[in-house]
Amino acid sequence: MRAAAYTSLGESGTIEAIDLEDPDPEPGSVVVRVEACSVNHRDLWNLEGAQGVGESDLPYVGGSDVAGVVEAVGDGVNDISTGDRVVLNPVKSCGKCRFCRDGPENQCENFGIYDGGFGELAAVDSTRLEHVPNSVDLVDAAAIPIAYMTAYHMIRRANVEPGDLVFVPGATGGVGVAAIQLLDVIGARSIATSTSAEKLDRLTALGTDHTIQSADVEELREGVEAIGAPDVTLNHLGGKYTAVGLEVLDRAGKMVICGRTVSRRSDIDIRDLYWDHKRVIGSTMGTQADLARLVELLADGQLEPEVGETYALEDTIEAFEAIGDRSAFGKQIVEPQE
Ligand SMILES: NC(=O)c1ccc[n+]([C@@H]2O[C@H](COP(=O)([O-])OP(=O)(O)OC[C@H]3O[C@@H](n4cnc5c(N)ncnc54)[C@H](OP(=O)(O)O)[C@@H]3O)[C@@H](O)[C@H]2O)c1
Ligand SMILES: [Zn+2]
Repeated sequence: MRAAAYTSLGESGTIEAIDLEDPDPEPGSVVVRVEACSVNHRDLWNLEGAQGVGESDLPYVGGSDVAGVVEAVGDGVNDISTGDRVVLNPVKSCGKCRFCRDGPENQCENFGIYDGGFGELAAVDSTRLEHVPNSVDLVDAAAIPIAYMTAYHMIRRANVEPGDLVFVPGATGGVGVAAIQLLDVIGARSIATSTSAEKLDRLTALGTDHTIQSADVEELREGVEAIGAPDVTLNHLGGKYTAVGLEVLDRAGKMVICGRTVSRRSDIDIRDLYWDHKRVIGSTMGTQADLARLVELLADGQLEPEVGETYALEDTIEAFEAIGDRSAFGKQIVEPQE
């Protein structure tokens, strides 16, 4: 099979289309003919060598958000058949630790994330698949696992309710757009930020209620204060956006954090926590039930994931560049059969 593999790591890391052995389905797993696999910021961290992937792993096939058609089924798989249209929840959990037994399984002590979707075939854990109805495009299905599931789980962690005001700094990428769309589905109000006026116009069309065009924390603070005190901040940027995300919250408001695009460090005023009863909640990925619910929203026509561009396997690096240089909007999707 052909696969887009990382062949060198670093800031100018390289991705090349190479030939690899076709995978065999192990017991409990299936081989999926990958029709679409979306690119997430974590794929960029991996290519940079900033987490997970090392020189000894090269050539390395990344890509977590697999959607496609089942090509072969391993022993012991009962509920998935050849020809089924499926989407993968890339969460890997052990099924044995106290978090797996008590739930939610995305808090597993041995948590990991599947990689291997940027190729024509992918061997995946059958228990992590959801069936995709014929009415749902596989490109749309590939958009949802990491970005939409993470945003949905963050919204659930904060118990966002209809009418709540939610601040989303950096709202034009994978997680950000997903958050804006899902907040609209549940009837919450959102404040979206970006450096790009054009991308903010697109977010307004997708249902955001307020936009602020800036990445400067003081301008963001003033912009949010002019709108009102948010009940919730959904923060995937980290760094200096952590303090402002906490400070602008209403009394007893909640900030859910899932990422560190800007930095892993931040300086917060802890009086916000004890005097104003605010809460900071960490969140990573989501549960199988979250992904199943998102597939239902797609099937019902309540949610149409925002797909920015699609890329042939040979052009996978272009999707990474679009995310890296911030020209991308919504999800960037590789189509390995193209
Ligand atoms: N824990 C989890 O389960 C989980 C899951 C998914 C993602 N994440 C993390 O969440 C983050 C977002 O992931 P993603 O795939 O949605 O990324 P993405 O698509 O690259 O996010 C793009 C957004 O981030 C903003 N942005 C990028 N660099 C910035 C900077 N230096 N300063 C200010 N804003 C900046 C962009 O703003 P402009 O509009 O101004 O360009 C845009 O709105 C990543 O750190 C990722 O690792 C974590
Ligand atoms: Zn576990």
